[in-house]
Amino acid sequence: MKVASASDAETKLSSGLPGLDTMLDGGFNKRRVVLILGEPGTGKTIICSQFLYHGASKLGENSMFIGMNEPKSRFMKEMLNLGMDFAALEKDGKFNYVDATEVRKIPETAKVGRIAVGGRELGLVNLLETIQSAIAKFEPVRIALDSMSDLVFRFPTVEERRPVVLDMIETLQGTNATSLLTSELLSTGEERVLQPEEYLAEGVLLMRTQRKGVRTIQILKMRGSKVDTHPRPYVITGKGLEVLATEEVY
Ligand SMILES: Nc1ncnc2c1ncn2[C@@H]1O[C@H](COP(=O)(O)OP(=O)(O)OP(=O)(O)O)[C@@H](O)[C@H]1O
Ligand SMILES: [Mg+2]
Repeated sequence: MKVASASDAETKLSSGLPGLDTMLDGGFNKRRVVLILGEPGTGKTIICSQFLYHGASKLGENSMFIGMNEPKSRFMKEMLNLGMDFAALEKDGKFNYVDATEVRKIPETAKVGRIAVGGRELGLVNLLETIQSAIAKFEPVRIALDSMSDLVFRFPTVEERRPVVLDMIETLQGTNATSLLTSELLSTGEERVLQPEEYLAEGVLLMRTQRKGVRTIQILKMRGSKVDTHPRPYVITGKGLEVLATEEVY
């Protein structure tokens, strides 16, 4: 078994999930952007929450959730059901929710003064500015952006998506935080088309529901780390998500 050293503490950040830390050889590399790619309902939002909650409640680290698909009240209620009291952390100044759901509501064509501009581009520029200023003010150690899919839904082709994804990842890379970014898995199987965010993120975790409803998590890539690349099962209960890092999937 590997014993954590002082240098690990300088370079690694616990994911907040003991089993996932085992797979990651100690945790995420600090100040990196990691993509959580998964099928709908597999627990992408829960993993992000546990990552933030652990940092804020156990380590006193400022943690920020950038919510693209649900308002703060709904997020907080759902996570309270899993034992995570984000409202209390917010009161302590350790948690900040950036409500980015507005970007979805901007019409196709918007007006700046009398000039008509593309609503989707305007929404994106506004969002990046909102995120950058929120980060500058709050100085988070941990960030989760949930989800990329909600950001790029108006950019249907890979060619259109690529610069949007690149801008978002560069925004997160330009901070001192370690960031998780979620995205919906668009295709599966041997012929699976890789998504731009998979190339651009420094690490990728894949969450899937296999045959018989068994859920698995797999590290597809993690630059600069010696990680476990086997798919490992996980369960979600009223206490959250638990990765069974020593179990095989059959
Ligand atoms: N109390 C609970 N007990 C067991 N399972 C739960 C509980 N609460 C939530 N879940 C499971 O967690 C899943 C939802 O997790 P989460 O919202 O993180 O998924 P997601 O990947 O973000 O979904 P989406 O694609 O809709 O954003 C549900 O599908 C459900 O199976
Ligand atoms: Mg979700």
